[in-house]
Amino acid sequence: MNTNTSPVLQLTGICKRFAGIVALNQVSLTVRAGEVMALIGENGAGKSTLVKTLTGIYQPDEGSITLGGERLAFATAQDAMQAGITAVHQETVMFDELTVAENIYVGRQPCRGGRVDWKRIEAEAEKLFERLEVALPVRARVKDLSVAQRHFVEIARALSQDARVVILDEPTASLSQREIQELYRIIRQLRDAGTAVIFISHKFDEIFAVADSYTVLRDGQFIADGALADITEPELVSLMVGRSVKEAYPKAAVTPGDVVLEVSAFSHPTEFDNVSFKLRQGEILGFYGLVGAGRSEVMQALFGLTPGANGKVVIHGKEVRITSPASAIAHGIAYVPEDRQHQGAHLTLPILHNITLPILSRVGFFLRGHRAQENKIARHYAEQLELKAAHLTQNVSELSGGNQQKVVLGKWLATDPKVIILDEPTKGIDIGSKAAVHRFISELVAKGLSVILVSSELPEVMGLADRIVVMHQGRIENVYARGEATAEVIVAAASGSELPQEECA
Ligand SMILES: Nc1ncnc2c1ncn2[C@@H]1O[C@H](COP(=O)(O)OP(=O)(O)OP(=O)(O)O)[C@@H](O)[C@H]1O
Ligand SMILES: [Mg+2]
Repeated sequence: MNTNTSPVLQLTGICKRFAGIVALNQVSLTVRAGEVMALIGENGAGKSTLVKTLTGIYQPDEGSITLGGERLAFATAQDAMQAGITAVHQETVMFDELTVAENIYVGRQPCRGGRVDWKRIEAEAEKLFERLEVALPVRARVKDLSVAQRHFVEIARALSQDARVVILDEPTASLSQREIQELYRIIRQLRDAGTAVIFISHKFDEIFAVADSYTVLRDGQFIADGALADITEPELVSLMVGRSVKEAYPKAAVTPGDVVLEVSAFSHPTEFDNVSFKLRQGEILGFYGLVGAGRSEVMQALFGLTPGANGKVVIHGKEVRITSPASAIAHGIAYVPEDRQHQGAHLTLPILHNITLPILSRVGFFLRGHRAQENKIARHYAEQLELKAAHLTQNVSELSGGNQQKVVLGKWLATDPKVIILDEPTKGIDIGSKAAVHRFISELVAKGLSVILVSSELPEVMGLADRIVVMHQGRIENVYARGEATAEVIVAAASGSELPQEECA
């Protein structure tokens, strides 16, 4: 950390209240030029709210923002951008129908002779991706991009503004290892050029790898700050949660029973090829691979979301054809998607209805007393998952990112499935609540459910799964029994490095 330089950004006594909730309470912090500051806190601590107050999306109720010694107030996001503060938000904010290049320059398109200079926009966008060393067609429509690619468009947009302060709100959640390394390189580039960077992540290895200093928030309040060189991970965690946390994978001993689901020669013309596996009752089957290995695509096809797949799917010994999510649910399959923003939650509906929506027919929407039952079910899952919300009638859009994820989990669990497919269930979930989700998964299988756990977090897969299926480029590379392979072996399989000749071809 370069403590000689004067502060670029100073927040003093920032308060932000929403109806019934104090999201930020007298928060003060300082970021210097050429410093990467990690902003740390549990789900709902107030991190994203702070980012939104800094970028003109929310106006603080109290307190002041000083940038380069000048006190500023931002009425709009555009104002903040012009002042030199830019952010990559946790939930990507983009125009799906526009191209990559258009999204980067939207609202500030360079003009030539009174017309938007599209050629220049595309050329500039291409230069940005060259600098990022990311291959992305600038004419592609954003709606056709993967979550990771969308994040890169946002990063490119932030870079294109030569900002004095760049804020990254959980930018790595959907990036592959290689992409994360690229991002680190870019962050260091920014820092060396004198930019102040605020970096938000729930992953401590990332925080220690890339940041110089930290600021901890808890329940909307400033708790501590300092240099990362002077603190250990357990110390940071206890500042964050107010107690010490052991990262445990509470895998109950379950003897897997009969085969519940059997998938054979499952293929898709573009996404995956010849995928076969069996899932037994009470089993947790892990699917590990790098981002883009095809794991989510297999699961989405299995759940009837993607047409065009063929192969054989047998449930409880009977061959089935799943053509829609409704038919998957009818066969006892539930799928908790990774991308909660687009597939998971109805953001504008209350928590209550989100959880009970897929089971309305069972609750009996028109029956007397359905409300009480709906309440009871929703409350049960909210408690089990340690959901942090003011009340169950609160709209999901008002919850923090990690708490939205918990609502999506609760919603599918309430369908009472036989097989539940969890796609990155702890993405964006803080270290304290992660243990709650893991405990919950373990309880599900103890009750006789079968779980498919798609995760890019190796300790999670190794800690919870009975067997680990490793995918690479749309194919199953290998399957390991619990404890059979080391982390190194699994990572090597996931990157296809067992087949170097194929990589070279
Ligand atoms: N628009 C809103 N209306 C009401 N409450 C809100 C709104 N936005 C955020 N909150 C509340 O403010 C608190 C802080 O939320 P915030 O999104 O800042 O958390 P976070 O630290 O970013 O968490 P996460 O790690 O889960 O992303 C939460 O209790 C949240 O429910
Ligand atoms: Mg957040």
